[in-house]
This record gives sequence, C-alpha cells and structure tokens, in this order.
Amino acid sequence: MWRTIGNTTLEVVEGDITRQSVDAIVNAANSGLLGGGGVDGAIHRAGGPAILEQCRRIRDERGRLPTGQAVITTGGELVARHVIHTVGPIYGSNEDDAALLAACHTNSLAIAMADGLRSVAFPAISTGAYGYPLSEAADVALSAVASILQEDPPLDTVRFVLFGSESYRAYESALERITEPEDPARS
Ligand code: APR
Repeated sequence: MWRTIGNTTLEVVEGDITRQSVDAIVNAANSGLLGGGGVDGAIHRAGGPAILEQCRRIRDERGRLPTGQAVITTGGELVARHVIHTVGPIYGSNEDDAALLAACHTNSLAIAMADGLRSVAFPAISTGAYGYPLSEAADVALSAVASILQEDPPLDTVRFVLFGSESYRAYESALERITEPEDPARS
C-alpha cells in the first residue's frame, strides 16, 4: 500500500528489509552498536563484516549510541548502499517512548538527506525485542515520517518493510488512518 505526500511516495510493504533496493535501510540496533538478534542480526548477516567494522569504529570514537539517535555506515554486501543504525526505545522504560521512537525516524531521515540519499526503508523499530505495541508504534512512526514529508524534503521514497502479515496490517491501517482524507459524511 502507498500514499503520495508532496513529491514523496510513502509505502508499506511486507518483506525482508535486507533485500530492499533503496539507498539506505534503517537498522533497529542497540546502543552498543555491535549487532544483536532480530533485524539487527539479519542486516549484519546479509551485509557482512564491513558494516560491523564501521559500527565498531563509530562506537570507539563516540561511545554508546543514545536512544533516538542514528548513525550511518556502509551497506557492505547489501543491495542498499548504506545502513542507518538507530536505537529505538524499550517500551515502558522512558516516559517519552513515543517522542524517542519518532526521533529514530526523523533523525534517520535527516542523516539520509544530509548524504543526498533519495530512498530509505524502515523496519518496525522497537516492535520486537523492545516490546513496543505494533499499532502504537505504527501510528508514531508513520506520523513522524508523514510530518517530515509534508515539508517537501528531497526524498523520492520512504518505505516501511514489515516482517509478517500482522506487522504489515498494523502499519497499513496506520497509513490509512494518518492519510485518510477527512470524510465529512463520517465526521
Ligand atoms: N526485515 C524486516 N523486518 C524484520 C526482519 C527483516 N529481515 N527481521 C526482523 N524484523 C522485524 C521484527 O519482526 C520486528 O517487527 O523487525 C521488527 C523489530 O524487531 P527487533 O529486530 O527485535 O528490534 P527491536 O524491537 O527494535 O529491538 C532491538 O533487538 O535485535 C536486537 O540488537 C537489537 O538489542 C536490539 C533489540
């Protein structure tokens, strides 16, 4: 499913983020930046050691990556040229989980645009090991991205790549909710 916001296509697809042909895929990393399970593990497995080498260098230079922040590395052997690593909130561990989750998305897009990238794919950040309820995460993530796209940024495509039909349905209905034209008959 997709919507056009300004000049950018915002799409929600079911699939494997490691196989996406975009300029950058976003990784749901942890603050340690040295890999993990879930999508983090899948990206490092598919992308190979070059990604971890750059993550290690960033970690040595800057220390742990705070929740909500993002950094960019090579995509290694991935189709995508870059990986943007961001750290989602562990649900319930911060008063401002939603603000931190939104920041993961806005900071990742800011880094992509600063590097002149035109297409970015996100996983469902924090909805796995970090326990963020799917529907809440979908609303926060899609609203954060849609508000950036309303400013006509230099982006062609932002794609959410969901692993499994339950995740896909949650993000699909969130996209409908946030972009459905108000229907006066229904108000
Ligand atoms: N493509 C797309 N989405 C995927 C893939 C994949 N190949 N593999 C897993 N996912 C989905 C999961 O199904 C989930 O919906 O990514 C979403 C995020 O789940 P996690 O990977 O568990 O990420 P998160 O909840 O943010 O927890 C991050 O888990 O893997 C560790 O190192 C990571 O400590 C960090 C924590």
